[in-house]
Amino acid sequence: MLANIRSEFLLDPDIHYLNHGSFGACPREVFRDYQNWQRILERNPIDYYTRQLKGLFGKKASGPLEEARTALADFVNADAAGMIFTPNVTVALNAIANSIKLQADDEVLATDHEYGTIVATWARKCTQNDAILKEVEIDLPVSTQAEFVDYFWKQVTPNTKVIVMSHITSATALVLPVKEICQRARKAGIITVIDGAHAVGQIDLDLENIDADFYTSNCHKWLLTPKGTAFLHVHATQRAAFEPLVISWAEINQPSFSLRHEMWGTRDMAAFLCIPAALRFREKHNWKTRHREARALLYEFRDKFSIEFDRETICDQSWLAQIAGVLLPAETKLFELWQYLWEEHRIEAMITRWREEPIIRLSYNAYNTPDELDLLLQAIRQYQNL
Ligand SMILES: Cc1ncc(COP(=O)(O)O)c(C=O)c1O
Repeated sequence: MLANIRSEFLLDPDIHYLNHGSFGACPREVFRDYQNWQRILERNPIDYYTRQLKGLFGKKASGPLEEARTALADFVNADAAGMIFTPNVTVALNAIANSIKLQADDEVLATDHEYGTIVATWARKCTQNDAILKEVEIDLPVSTQAEFVDYFWKQVTPNTKVIVMSHITSATALVLPVKEICQRARKAGIITVIDGAHAVGQIDLDLENIDADFYTSNCHKWLLTPKGTAFLHVHATQRAAFEPLVISWAEINQPSFSLRHEMWGTRDMAAFLCIPAALRFREKHNWKTRHREARALLYEFRDKFSIEFDRETICDQSWLAQIAGVLLPAETKLFELWQYLWEEHRIEAMITRWREEPIIRLSYNAYNTPDELDLLLQAIRQYQNL
């Protein structure tokens, strides 16, 4: 196994950080790059905004912002012209919901594993338009991806206008077969919105192959950039009709598609500019090998945890990436356990609920050691025996 690289991260050395999924963690050298871009800005804000950043109000497709966009687009195999930088997935999904037109009785189809704020966004959108949000119940344990696709597709009706689906679900940490869903939807003329909040940097992404109408992901989770770094990729067929969430000078100057949706008045773009630094960091530290090693260890531990709690596993390994949901005993008091782990053991762990089920979402990254997962297991054992 490759050596642990905890010292490369800014994380407090005295804590056990076993919840990468919620907000990620940033390496020192990527953070230095971030701060360097902020210093460049403050040395001469005029020069930075009008000349350096995007070249004369974005009329020239050059400069560090376009370099970051191209690097990210290459990394996820997407057309850079459709990539918009957004602060997070929540904003991207609001922009999509704001732009799509719904009529009475239109249906928006999702699973019942979607992230809370995303459900809230689409629920409001549907209420405002007398449309219907249908959350397809996907029971645990899940069977095969092929069965998932067939079952989900059976809920499609002639009124289905939009499909909203996580690429990796939040509480249950399942990698959903979004490519197969997007392919069927394209043939059926249904708009697809993929919430890949946990995807970029955690799994290999090929957006051209997935072929979603809208795909958004957070770089500040698994790509290791500072917070506030996400992207929204808009399919070429959707660009002309895509409404800006914020109206600014772009409305008048008409720069590129990306800039038209990014120019929100004065903004600090430093977090986006260090995407190339995050990619270099991953390359330098053999991230592909680290992914493989982390997954193997995580799968071993999630089985150990399930045996310990006498609960069945929620899926086989084909549904998993670098986080894994494990059912906790039904009577677990979530907040109390979460507090106990932090106060008694300085463990940060993701304890949550899906439907009525208490879940711990295990996570392992290059700054962790196997001992920390063991410690987590022992700490939960101790808590149960209190
Ligand atoms: C599946 C999913 N979607 C969306 C989000 C929202 O991400 P953000 O708060 O960065 O907008 C999260 C956050 O963890 C998530 O897990």
